Amino acid sequence: MQRLARSDADALREQAAAVLLGNARQGYDRRWKRDFAYTSPARKGYPWQWFWDSCFHAIALTHIDLALAKQELRTLLAAHREDGFVPHMLFWGARLPNPGRFLQSRLAWNAKCSALIQPPVLAQAVLTVYERSQDRAFLTENVEKVKRYYLWLRDNRDPDGDNLIAVISPYETGMDQLPAYDAPMGSLNPSRLGLQVRGRILDARNLVSGRNYNSKHLFGPRSFNVEDLLVNCVYAQGLRATAGLCELSGDKTSGDSFIRIAKRVEQAILAKCYDKESGAFFGLAGREERPLRILTCASLMPLILEDVPKEILTRLIDTHLRNPSEFWLDYPVPSVARSEPAFRAAQSFLIWRGATWININWFLYHGLRKHGFQEAAAAIAFSSAQLVLKSGYREFYNPLTGEGYGEHNFGWSTLLVDML
Ligand code: GLC
Repeated sequence: MQRLARSDADALREQAAAVLLGNARQGYDRRWKRDFAYTSPARKGYPWQWFWDSCFHAIALTHIDLALAKQELRTLLAAHREDGFVPHMLFWGARLPNPGRFLQSRLAWNAKCSALIQPPVLAQAVLTVYERSQDRAFLTENVEKVKRYYLWLRDNRDPDGDNLIAVISPYETGMDQLPAYDAPMGSLNPSRLGLQVRGRILDARNLVSGRNYNSKHLFGPRSFNVEDLLVNCVYAQGLRATAGLCELSGDKTSGDSFIRIAKRVEQAILAKCYDKESGAFFGLAGREERPLRILTCASLMPLILEDVPKEILTRLIDTHLRNPSEFWLDYPVPSVARSEPAFRAAQSFLIWRGATWININWFLYHGLRKHGFQEAAAAIAFSSAQLVLKSGYREFYNPLTGEGYGEHNFGWSTLLVDML
């Protein structure tokens, strides 16, 4: 097994701290009537607060500054709506309205936040920050908000009642242009412009036909309506983390109830998304639940679940993850398997079409370790470190050459420090 030199690990930690501290934004927002302090994903390209980025930043910050980790989540949860919803983007300090923001938000001249969700990694972040800080006040302050958030997802995002939650746009999966969504977006072999136009049309439809992002109207016959695998695996993991938070705060009854919900989600993933023939998992599209048969990093995400038969996990790892013609490339794990016609290693105008992303590696690393696949986990951690040593904390990387693409000093790539 290859090991990282201690001096390299130290340098990576130092650089991660510089990235996160360098991306910090703070100020006072007149519309929210409050101070904000958070880490932007990248200073220029992504100035706002993004939901899952912030959860990742908080986890990475536990290795750097626990007070900042707590502050990150406090600022995120300031946008917690009374009914439990937490937005995927918070436009702190935005002075001018912007057309893209306008369509992804409830009607407002200059929206404060979006009306979309992102993969629900909130409870995992709150639990990690609590475990590492042992700050009871932080736990007490946030546990109710976390509970209400997951119950909101269950009650508002499962229109067919099958225990899998559905997304209304690819942006909600955090993997914006993953080829698995080409078909539900109605565009095969898409261009960047084509997908962006379709994305805006979908936003407009969610706003108008969804009657100002009202959950009751978001799943009409022409809606996106995808039961995404990554979103549902993160949801199941989040439900279990919520159960953990309930128990830590002395509420065993709620803890048991969240475990029951999590188990139902895990069973639904196994029953509806597992393809026995190929040994891979696929998300489902539309009311008729068409499997999205394209091998992407989402297909590997059941590795993070608790209750999956060992033989299914072993097959997923041996046949797909560790297959050099699919995911086991020089710098794993690519967002799309190499065997897929849509796979692109080099930078293109579309994102999530084959590049390696550190947040995906982080999920898989911890999933593999939990299930005892230490060697594969260590290989992913090692190659993630090599990516950053070679190319810096970039947004995403070429899985064949390790070249870095997209933003420089990108926040969530510092999750690497949680794998060292
Ligand atoms: C891109 C990513 C999304 C992320 C956002 C901010 O849109 O696809 O997952 O949250 O950038 O980093």
